[in-house]
Amino acid sequence: MPVTPVDLAGKKILITGPTGQVALPVVEHYAKMADVHTLARFSKQADVDRIEALGASVIAADLADAKAIASIPGDFDYVLNFAVVKSGNFDYDLAANGEGIGNLMTRCKQARGFLHISSTAVYEYNGHEPRKESDPLGDNHRAMFPTYSISKIAAETVCRFVARQHGIPTTIARLNVPYGDNGGWMYFHMLMMQQGIPIDIHPERPNNYNPIHVDDYIEKIPYLLGAASADVTTTNFGGSEQVSIEQWCALISELTGFEPLYNETRTAFGSLAIDTTRMHELIGRTRVDWREGIRSQLQALAPDVLVRG
Ligand SMILES: NC(=O)c1ccc[n+]([C@@H]2O[C@H](COP(=O)([O-])OP(=O)(O)OC[C@H]3O[C@@H](n4cnc5c(N)ncnc54)[C@H](OP(=O)(O)O)[C@@H]3O)[C@@H](O)[C@H]2O)c1
Repeated sequence: MPVTPVDLAGKKILITGPTGQVALPVVEHYAKMADVHTLARFSKQADVDRIEALGASVIAADLADAKAIASIPGDFDYVLNFAVVKSGNFDYDLAANGEGIGNLMTRCKQARGFLHISSTAVYEYNGHEPRKESDPLGDNHRAMFPTYSISKIAAETVCRFVARQHGIPTTIARLNVPYGDNGGWMYFHMLMMQQGIPIDIHPERPNNYNPIHVDDYIEKIPYLLGAASADVTTTNFGGSEQVSIEQWCALISELTGFEPLYNETRTAFGSLAIDTTRMHELIGRTRVDWREGIRSQLQALAPDVLVRG
């Protein structure tokens, strides 16, 4: 039996990273039912306008700036930390991603629940073995994003430390491949296929993942908060179905007529499928069929490329 989801209706919620691919639809959804505040650097006025148009309010602050974070309001019922920076500068990225979450949690320590969105990029490469939460960590995404995996591991560690120091009910959710009508990794693959650009792929094929549709991750957030504990609950967070890059490119090929060109290289991320046991125990199965999710994504973002609908 999954945990009891929290009721977010009418609650005061802080969402960090609101302009990102993953969090923007979350802001859009929860701003309709709750008092949603959002935090980012907001260097572009267009981002401020976009968030305010959704009915959420804006707090402009840099997570790398401890003083700025210490002066934000601290009275949120729930905090959803989606923000991430991968500038490639270790000092800055570790300050924003690692120290930033510590300062944010300390400021918001009265929260009833804190959700930190981590990544399956924290796991060491291990071929086709679905990764369990207790599996070895590693610098998985180094080839493409030098600071990313190390930053995400650092952020998890700071998150656990502060949660336990202050008794903040917390969940760390290691997100796999988020996608939806607003984008996702497979949409980039479609663009590469359209332009004849080779897709890097690990030679240990197929390259398996657990993509999770936006409708599923929005629906699961109250469950993830329901699973929060002061000792910190860590869970994988992906779709219930395992799907490979090869499978989703084959479907894109069927729908568009574009053929994938693969470039086999050991520097590609390689399989990062998840063991779903703990996730299913805590939050239940996801619902969106990946074929339907990808078909819908192409219909929303590039209807002109569809030869079969
Ligand atoms: N996208 C994926 O495929 C994927 C996969 C697994 C896990 N995840 C995780 O999901 C979360 C969201 O990812 P995403 O891809 O949506 O990220 P994204 O598109 O890169 O967006 C990052 C967000 O964080 C904000 N931000 C960046 N640096 C900041 C700073 N120093 N201070 C405050 N805010 C800052 C950005 O706004 P400003 O630039 O205005 O500050 C933006 O709103 C991350 O935790 C990521 O690790 C993503």
